[in-house]
Amino acid sequence: MQVFPKNFVWGAATASYQIEGAVHEDGRGESIWDRFSHTPGKVHNGDTGDVACDHYHRWRDDLELMKQLGLPAYRFSIAWPRILPNARILPNGRGQVNEKGLAFYDQLVDALLAANIQPYVTLYHWDLPQMLEDDGGWLNRDIVNAFVEYTQVVVKRLGDRVKQWSTHNEPFCTAFLGYRYGVHAPGLSDEVQSLQAAHHVLLSHGLATQAIRALQPDAQVGIVLNLWTVETLTDTSDDRAFADLQWQKDCGWYLDPVLRGQYPAQAWAAYEAKVPAIQPDDLKVIAQPLDYLGLNYYMRALYDGPRRAPKLLDAEYTEMDWEVHAPGLYRLLTKLQREYPAVPIYITENGAAFKDTVEDGAVHDPRRVNYLREHIVACRQAINDGVDLRGYFAWSLLDNFEWAHGYSKRFGLTYVDYATQQRIPKDSFEFYREVIKRNGLA
Ligand code: FCB
Repeated sequence: MQVFPKNFVWGAATASYQIEGAVHEDGRGESIWDRFSHTPGKVHNGDTGDVACDHYHRWRDDLELMKQLGLPAYRFSIAWPRILPNARILPNGRGQVNEKGLAFYDQLVDALLAANIQPYVTLYHWDLPQMLEDDGGWLNRDIVNAFVEYTQVVVKRLGDRVKQWSTHNEPFCTAFLGYRYGVHAPGLSDEVQSLQAAHHVLLSHGLATQAIRALQPDAQVGIVLNLWTVETLTDTSDDRAFADLQWQKDCGWYLDPVLRGQYPAQAWAAYEAKVPAIQPDDLKVIAQPLDYLGLNYYMRALYDGPRRAPKLLDAEYTEMDWEVHAPGLYRLLTKLQREYPAVPIYITENGAAFKDTVEDGAVHDPRRVNYLREHIVACRQAINDGVDLRGYFAWSLLDNFEWAHGYSKRFGLTYVDYATQQRIPKDSFEFYREVIKRNGLA
């Protein structure tokens, strides 16, 4: 029996654009993901988030699922374009607050609390209002003010009940997938721009953190980063130097400004003229003391020399082609503890996509059960070895719109039949219910 500390938080996570649908309802404005998914060739199969899991209408059913799961905490994100559908970057200003958008989250929060489920709210999980994009999006430094205004509106409304706030989800994806690799909205491919976008996202994190604290002194504020260990097939000094630099470019680029108040030196030097324009106090603002670091872990990054290693013959891969490698989570957690200033950590996402099929009304997903079990074991080991890990959120409560992969990748503990919107708890749902009930593994 692997029991977890008494106050360990078990949760499940979702994100607005991935589950809500109802994109034209109650005054919601267009987001960059509406625009991107409706652009031919951008998303697998032409899928869009127009309907998704129809959570906007079915949230009460989804709350019933959470209750059935015995869920103590639920991490979800707020759709900025529901709250400020006409937001513009200054000098035009934020536009009208959309009361119906706020009311949606307001009733959700009330219902969660009535069910004794703690809301963990993410302010930005990638659905930027399209009009802000038209004004330059994350490339325009003044967007940070728009983000602060949005944050203030949300915190003023929900802050009497929501205590846990994350400013951003995975700035790496916002900036690098969106502006460098072109695979996420807004679909740009420019390294210089991606580094500038990343800087503005980080700056907006720092400013929003200050804004939340000013409005709500008892708030717990953090940021959610996607991180992985960079590992190599062989262990030469070149390999080690490469792995260090790659870590700095992918992970340190976000961690170091936030936790150390500086960009990682070697990566900064390696980028040469591509580094972002920054103003004198920016890093001080970015490095606000945090109540927690949210960590999304899915896999390690394995290299063969300076190239991504081909698939290993003896390893398991998910439908995303991501290697299943729970020891990487242990190594990542202990690395953070050794190398970074102390900060409590939550695993804010962890999970796996596999091919699920419904048989006689059930979904048997033993590989997902194994994935979860192994990663929960890694968490327990990390805690044993002194890591201040406070919680674990499974990704995801429901199958949903997996960004550029559309509906082809299923990460849910609950199967969603998109034709009927029927929800079918998978075996992994039952497994996780037991974990929560026992506060650990049998
Ligand atoms: C993360 C995202 C989340 C989900 C998972 C699979 O990068 O935060 O929305 O798509 O990956």
